[in-house]
Amino acid sequence: MATEQDRMERIVALAKRRGFIFPGSEIYGGLNGFWDYGPLGVELKRNIKDAWWHDCVTTRDDVVGVDAAIIMNPRVWEASGHVAGFGDPLVDCTDSKNRYRADHLYVRNVEIDGEDFFIALVASSSNDADEKWQKWKPGLIRGKLPKRILRFLEGLYDYKDCRYLDLTAEQRARVIGPDTDRIGTLTEPRQFNLMFKTFVGAMEDSSALAYLRPETAQGIFVNYKNVLDTSRLKVPFGIAQLGKAFRNEINPRNYTFRSREFEQMEIEFFCHPKEADKWYATWRQARFDWYVGLGLKSDRLRLRDHEKDELAHYAKACADIEYAFPFGTSELEGVANRTDFDLKQHQEFSGRDMTYFDDETKERFLPYVIEPSGGVDRALLAFLCEAYDEDEAPDENGKPQKRTVLRFHPRLAPIKVAVFPLVKKDGMPEKARAIYEECRRHLAAFYDEKGAVGRRYRRQDEAGTPFCVTVDGQTFEDGTVTIRDRDTMKQERIGAESVLGYVREHLHL
Ligand code: GAP
Repeated sequence: MATEQDRMERIVALAKRRGFIFPGSEIYGGLNGFWDYGPLGVELKRNIKDAWWHDCVTTRDDVVGVDAAIIMNPRVWEASGHVAGFGDPLVDCTDSKNRYRADHLYVRNVEIDGEDFFIALVASSSNDADEKWQKWKPGLIRGKLPKRILRFLEGLYDYKDCRYLDLTAEQRARVIGPDTDRIGTLTEPRQFNLMFKTFVGAMEDSSALAYLRPETAQGIFVNYKNVLDTSRLKVPFGIAQLGKAFRNEINPRNYTFRSREFEQMEIEFFCHPKEADKWYATWRQARFDWYVGLGLKSDRLRLRDHEKDELAHYAKACADIEYAFPFGTSELEGVANRTDFDLKQHQEFSGRDMTYFDDETKERFLPYVIEPSGGVDRALLAFLCEAYDEDEAPDENGKPQKRTVLRFHPRLAPIKVAVFPLVKKDGMPEKARAIYEECRRHLAAFYDEKGAVGRRYRRQDEAGTPFCVTVDGQTFEDGTVTIRDRDTMKQERIGAESVLGYVREHLHL
């Protein structure tokens, strides 16, 4: 297979061609950071959400769901800290015109002939910066840098590593940005809030200001007391929510990976502070295993514990579940120990008592919260990238042809079985339709009678359909049909009446 970039381009093209993902409002030129899901994409997305809800809510005694409004009282976002602090400090480069998150700029400082120089690169953490410095080839990126700086970069001088945000304004004026060879082209960091604003009611003034939620989590925290009061749940227990979230991302990129409108699947799991470490470890592993169970290979998936300088101020621990996308290894889901930060904040801002009283121990306390927080769109993109494969299959004349196939896990495949008549005559369409009608009452099925049967197989391979059934002449002799396996491409004959049972048994549905 070609380069990773090439692979990504093929995945994007397939997703468009086969109706998984379209650019949002495409006929008007699209809108950066917004995507639409087509007929196959929406089924895949629904299957991911259903699998999450089934595994994390329906089949657990200790988790229940809510579905809160997207627009909430703006005080919620004051309490949560989003109004004051949900944004990135941004820095512009006046030379390259690139924009960076200031907290992602790592700087190497060296004194040469009594003069201080600061060289910056982009990294997600200090460890990441260390790795990047080691691989860094200054000559390639910065051909025009003064010789003495190049000599320093080649390891001839001692240096000090620091973060851009920790520099004084004077020092910042001496920084060489990541994509320039000039000194002092980075602006001072400016705070940018990522929340989309709107107005509730007829007046468009500050009293009517509201926000599109940037996370589903707060809809859970504000309902924590309602759920406790109306259910028989006792701590430890969790509340789950699936739904849209909106962030005015500065730099939407990597296809749907960083979008401005996306869906989250979040659980806030309330537990006794003394048990928080235990529940954190449990959820951290359970969520990792969930992705593996649905087909993400563990060698492309990793659990990365946050370094101290990455942790949010209220989080005691956090781990990212990361996937090796063709464009790089990036976060699918975060699992965090948020302590009692959110309940404490809402208690203070709302004036409502958020404590929990344990009938058995007679103890009153504010629960700690473990939060597994994943993105549906990112999960979908990872499952799509993992499923994408190219191999060879013989065409009608037995000649090998390139085949594109999506090897989805059966639970996720948008269509579970496709049914074809070999030709559009001799009663085959009627028989095939009858099998299809029976299947679709129980699972996602598809009927196709157009074109050569080989092409129909290919189309289903591209959609990720695990089984294709064909009614042919022999069906009318011995009552059998062929059933073809997407992955092995092997065909076997089974009784026409046992198609549904066969598919269910082999897909464990
Ligand atoms: N309540 C915690 C929270 O929202 P987060 O790390 O900001 O944490 C959680 O977001 C998950 O939501 C991420 O792991 C990712 O899967 C998804 N997500 C966040 N921002 C996103 C974006 N701009 N586009 C797509 N998914 C996003």
